[in-house]
Amino acid sequence: MILDTTHLNRERTFFEPDETIWLFGYGSLIWKAEFDYHERRPAHIEGWTRRFWQGSHDHRGTPKAPGRVVTLVESPGTVCQGMAYRIDAETLAQLDIREKNGYLRELAVLHFPDGSHAEGLIYLATADNAAFLGDAPLDAMARQIAAAHGPSGPNRDYLLNLAIALEDLGADDPHVFALAALVRHCCAE
Ligand code: SIN
Repeated sequence: MILDTTHLNRERTFFEPDETIWLFGYGSLIWKAEFDYHERRPAHIEGWTRRFWQGSHDHRGTPKAPGRVVTLVESPGTVCQGMAYRIDAETLAQLDIREKNGYLRELAVLHFPDGSHAEGLIYLATADNAAFLGDAPLDAMARQIAAAHGPSGPNRDYLLNLAIALEDLGADDPHVFALAALVRHCCAE
């Protein structure tokens, strides 16, 4: 089901309109940075883990055959590696449209490799959003990802591009790497 969160996010104004904002990307925002930014830096957030539990009916699947994309699930003691972008409010408003299928802007503390930190935003899709799919056996998720295709392309590409980007960042993400191995193995062309 598609729930358009664009209008909800417009009201979630945590920063002044003339401020630049740090946005932490943990999914496609890591490897598909087709938007304007002032600065791009590897970063991590704490207490969250990445999971392919969010349905994609608009980008990597369709309403009848949704794909799976990542969201974050609370996980005390866990570190989630990703990419931080310093952006304008105008760019954030454009990203609200890209992330409209269930994601809401949330505050997060971003940690940088030099030991500094900053308050910023994440797009979070929680279990109560209409597009949430939740957990499933890993091989079932892999089959769904291998089969799904949407207006932004194959769901498989989303997963494999994310796995490559996380390897490049030196990130440890057993969930993503296990899914990528299954999809490469079961769906080699
Ligand atoms: C993100 O990348 O931070 C959000 C989820 C996505 O667009 O894949």
